[in-house]
Parts: sequence; C-alpha cells; structure tokens
Amino acid sequence: MSTFKNVSVLEHPVVARDLSILRDQSTDIVGFRKAMARIANILAYSALKELPLREHSINTPITETKGYAIDTEVIVVPILRAGLSLVDAIIEFIPDAKVGHLGMYRDETTHEPVDYYSNLPDGVAEGQVLLVDPMLATGGSADDAIGFLKKQGAQNIRFISLICAPEGLKRITEKYPDVSIITAAIDEKLNDQAFIVPGLGDAGDRYFGTL
Ligand code: PRP
Repeated sequence: MSTFKNVSVLEHPVVARDLSILRDQSTDIVGFRKAMARIANILAYSALKELPLREHSINTPITETKGYAIDTEVIVVPILRAGLSLVDAIIEFIPDAKVGHLGMYRDETTHEPVDYYSNLPDGVAEGQVLLVDPMLATGGSADDAIGFLKKQGAQNIRFISLICAPEGLKRITEKYPDVSIITAAIDEKLNDQAFIVPGLGDAGDRYFGTL
C-alpha cells in the first residue's frame, strides 16, 4: 500500500533493478523492451491477485478433487500507444482476456488528452476491466479513460501503471475512489512540462522507437 488510498506499489528487488534500467537514458530499445516485459509480468501477476474464483470438480489420475476457474471475464484496455507495452503480460496469464483500445495522446501545449480512437468489446459492464498505461502524469488521460469506461457501464476497474506522479494519483484517487491502482513507483513530482520527475522520459517513444 502507499499513502494514497487504494494504491499499491510493487516492492521487489527485480522491479527496482528493472525500473533503473528503464529510467536510464543510455538503455537502448532492446534493453528497454526486455525490462518492460519483465516488469509488466510482475505488475500483471500482482494485479490479478483479487480475481474471483469458481470451484469445480476435477479428476486427477488418483482421485476427484476441487479445482478452480477464474469467475469473471477479464478485459484489458490499453491507453494507446504506450499501454500496448503492458497487454501481452496480462494475456500470458489470462489467454482468453478480451482487449479494448482507447486512443488518446497528450497535447504537448495544453497537456490535456486528445481522444482519437475507441473500440471496446462486449462485457465491459460485467467483467473485470484492467486499464493499462505505463505513465500516470497529470492523470488527464486516465481520468478521461476511466470516465469513458464508466459511461459504458464498467463497475470493476483496476488501473495498472508503471510510474505515477503524485499529482496524477491525487486526481484519480479523489475522483474515482472505487478504482484501485497498482504501480511500480510513485515518483517525486511533475516538472513544468508535466513530465514525471525523475521518470523515464516518454515511455511510448522509447518503447516504439519514435524518439
Ligand atoms: C503518455 C502516457 C500517458 C499520458 C500520461 O502518452 O503514455 O498516456 O501521456 O500523461 P497524463 O497523465 O498527463 O495524461 P503520450 O501522450 O505520450 O502518447 P503515447 O502513448 O502515444 O506515447
């Protein structure tokens, strides 16, 4: 947990090492993608901890026993583009997860999100929605995305992010106290261009090589 209600921060030596690789400006695209994939796995595994289970009966080669299945549909919703870097890790654990896409980028002058695409599968209202974006800065994009998902009826939303600024966390936790957040780091602050400090630069640009 953190000082923000409903926000948990991963604490693990492998996460601390990989975060440092991601923050380091000398890390190349291959190293960046590999570190992102490792952290994404741990974030996904941790974020899935509260999934409901359904009991059923199974037969081992020896006897009948209790088995378990995930008792909800899982819908992953990446905020494009950078959120795509976290999707595969969730699909590794939940191979039948559906994926909805929300396209938005942050206007470099106003720092406000600009929506350009949305495509959600059925089941958002009943299922477990995992909204994913590696960066939570002002919180404008997450605010927009959560508002949109709620309008579609989503009731169980979990936000998975790699690095969060306190400013963005304050905004989201105050406005959406029912949305739980899992992250690998809460950084110091935003600078005057609304970049996370110390941060890692622009996750999307570094992941996709559009620097
Ligand atoms: C970045 C990031 C978040 C957003 C965070 O996306 O991936 O979506 O900014 O900022 P906010 O909390 O202030 O809204 P960007 O606009 O760089 O687009 P990209 O994913 O296409 O790189």
